[in-house]
Amino acid sequence: MTTDDSITIRTATDEDWDAVALLDAHAFGEHQNSEDLAETQILTSSRHVVMAWDGSTPVGVAMHFPMSVTVPGGAQVEASGVSWVSVAPTHRRRGILRRMFTAQHRELQAAGAPLSLLTASEATIYGRFGYGPATEEHRVVLDRRFAQFHKGVPPVTGVRLVESAEASTLLPEIYRRWQRATAGAQPKPPIRWERFFADRENRRRGLTELFFIAHADGYVAYRRSPTESKIVVEEFIAVTDEAYAELWQVLAGVDLVDTIEVSQAPDEALPFLLTNNRLPEVTAHHDALWCRIMDVKAALEARTYAVDAQFVLEVEDPFLDAGGTFDVTISGGRATCTAADAPADVSLKIDVLSALYFGTHRATRFAAADRLWSRDANALHTVDIAFSTDRASVMGWGF
Ligand SMILES: CC(C)(COP(=O)(O)OP(=O)(O)OC[C@H]1O[C@@H](n2cnc3c(N)ncnc32)[C@H](O)[C@@H]1OP(=O)(O)O)[C@@H](O)C(=O)NCCC(=O)NCCS
Repeated sequence: MTTDDSITIRTATDEDWDAVALLDAHAFGEHQNSEDLAETQILTSSRHVVMAWDGSTPVGVAMHFPMSVTVPGGAQVEASGVSWVSVAPTHRRRGILRRMFTAQHRELQAAGAPLSLLTASEATIYGRFGYGPATEEHRVVLDRRFAQFHKGVPPVTGVRLVESAEASTLLPEIYRRWQRATAGAQPKPPIRWERFFADRENRRRGLTELFFIAHADGYVAYRRSPTESKIVVEEFIAVTDEAYAELWQVLAGVDLVDTIEVSQAPDEALPFLLTNNRLPEVTAHHDALWCRIMDVKAALEARTYAVDAQFVLEVEDPFLDAGGTFDVTISGGRATCTAADAPADVSLKIDVLSALYFGTHRATRFAAADRLWSRDANALHTVDIAFSTDRASVMGWGF
């Protein structure tokens, strides 16, 4: 990797937003309109934006949104949501991302949030910086014309059709309850709710305005396609299993539509609400939230664990040197994590520990891929079970 001394890395100022927008437009093929850019300026501040300059030419940007996230067990943990990462096509593969990330992550480390989060355009970029894929989504298509629900599924008693104005008063509180109960989910900032209900045409991807159905413990926001016989779900939030089952029955009951497209956690109950579990077809699956543990002790002590156990973890962090050897003692489902000089039961890099953190991926899987080493089968089994969770983690909102 060549590094380039003619490139300057510095924190942005309020005068730099046009340059940020230009870089972002070229990177992602979408011009931000003034409302979109103004919203981003509310979510963050120029002091959370790192830029790369070649003389007076802007050539790279990375920023973060301060946020928090629910971790397994329900604690709300401070996190940095890294976003808007790009390098100009004129300056690729000269080490600019690495230099921006080094400056940015040193600052994030000093600021002290135990987790950094992002969503990745490509899966090959962020492992080297200690990020691992932390939640997964399935893209599912349901041909609703053939959807029959099992007899035991609770009947629909509490779902209503609601207008946007009423939805804007109901949905944030339901989302808030869901977010606090769902590992991987972040609180949705007010400006993101404003964007959601403003429902501007440039965010509709050629589909209709939003429709809403609501239950006391859940809601669905969806669009119809003007050209195809389908519903596309934007958000399906259910705090309870009852709300989930009722909302699905109503959605599947929208006549004059063939299919419903939705993104789901991999372990959702939909197939087993139906008499034909093959009907929801998984058309794609992909990683959603990526996590990087910035502070191993703080992160491991924040979540809960499935079993009480004791093990020594050796964590390697070539990027930020946040690794080390840690004694992890779990009692009553909570861990105490202290520096140790005992021989390791399990050794792994920090991207792998970060991928295990939200419970989506299992230690046994990384061991099989030769990316996690264990002293013996018992040690592997203990760590595997300890980090596992009852439900899949789910990213709250994309950033
Ligand atoms: C991804 C992007 C930011 C990389 O910037 P860059 O300045 O070319 O990256 P660097 O030269 O600093 O590379 C840093 C490291 O990442 C690797 N890398 C960079 N882009 C990569 C890619 N797309 N796939 C795989 N590896 C990549 C480099 O090989 C290098 O590895 P090393 O340091 O371990 O040797 C840039 O290509 C870009 O703007 N892409 C389009 C927008 C985008 O996808 N942004 C990310 C949004 S999540």
